[in-house]
Amino acid sequence: MLLSRLTERFDLDHPVISAPMGFNGGGRLAAAVSAAGGLGLIGGGYGNEPWLREQIVAAGNQRVGCGFITWSLKQQPQLLEIALESAPAAMFLSFGDPEPFAARIRGAGVPLICQVQTVADARRAIEVGADVVVAQGAEAGGHGQKRATFTLVPEVADLIAVRAPETLLCAAGGVADGRGLAAALVLGADGVVVGTRFWASEEALVHPDVQAAVVAASGDETLRSHVIDIMKGFDVWPERYAMRSLMSAVTDRWHGHEAELRTVVAAEAAHYAEAAARGDARTVGATVGEGIGLIHEIAPAATILRTMISEAEDILRKAPAWIAA
Ligand SMILES: Cc1cc2nc3c(=O)[nH]c(=O)nc-3n(C[C@H](O)[C@H](O)[C@H](O)COP(=O)(O)O)c2cc1C
Repeated sequence: MLLSRLTERFDLDHPVISAPMGFNGGGRLAAAVSAAGGLGLIGGGYGNEPWLREQIVAAGNQRVGCGFITWSLKQQPQLLEIALESAPAAMFLSFGDPEPFAARIRGAGVPLICQVQTVADARRAIEVGADVVVAQGAEAGGHGQKRATFTLVPEVADLIAVRAPETLLCAAGGVADGRGLAAALVLGADGVVVGTRFWASEEALVHPDVQAAVVAASGDETLRSHVIDIMKGFDVWPERYAMRSLMSAVTDRWHGHEAELRTVVAAEAAHYAEAAARGDARTVGATVGEGIGLIHEIAPAATILRTMISEAEDILRKAPAWIAA
């Protein structure tokens, strides 16, 4: 068993949180991760009220949390109330200033997890009273920025040690097996937030053909771009966040040609939506991170979690032998 301040504070068996993956991480996945001893989060994403209510029901009696895209939540603040009514184990906010929601969440007695991509944003998360700061590196699937996990995590750990030693730290971005988990703990994190590895689980809401394409791909085959957001009608993201996905015919054609894409987007978006509905990964890609090169099978979330823990334990058990007497 790997114990940390995260397992202690959240009463978990394992220091692993499943990322709130918008529309891919529903109640079933969150519940499976929590049932296996981690903390599962529903991916509220941009917000869709019927979908959110459905996923809260799908989580059943498991203690799960919920995450939202912060800038988008400002447009539908009622979604936060729906999530809070379900007595979530935590609320997770990423991509924007958490200040407008922090007091409401903490006032409801719900722990606030803030995912950040820079040290400046980590400072802000501490200021608004985050219980957990998640340092997200550029390897991550989905939206993010440019800092790498390997340097961002220890830099934020140093900041927390000075400014808010009670605040917990998790690492996100590229943690797809026990090596990543062990490394994150060594870098100073209390736990990890894992997206891509759980995206490739049986419980994720993902077309099986798309999962199969990703399992066959290498970590070389992803890129960070604005193209998919434009295609999906989300050309409203603040410029600093771009989305990492599997390379595809769509990104091959349009990455670097975004202005031209915007002039023909209506027709292109219709083709994109059609291809996405039939699970045509070659055309549309998939929202995944560099960790795909470490994923060789789709498995139940509980198996993924158990394997990650036992691999990390093996590594850390051997660590004392690395030091010469
Ligand atoms: C399919 C997918 C969807 C995501 N959607 C969201 C989201 O809606 N909100 C959010 O805060 N983070 C989202 N993320 C990013 C995660 O919070 C997390 O930072 C990331 O998955 C960690 O890196 P990894 O994918 O290498 O494990 C998403 C990630 C993936 C893979």
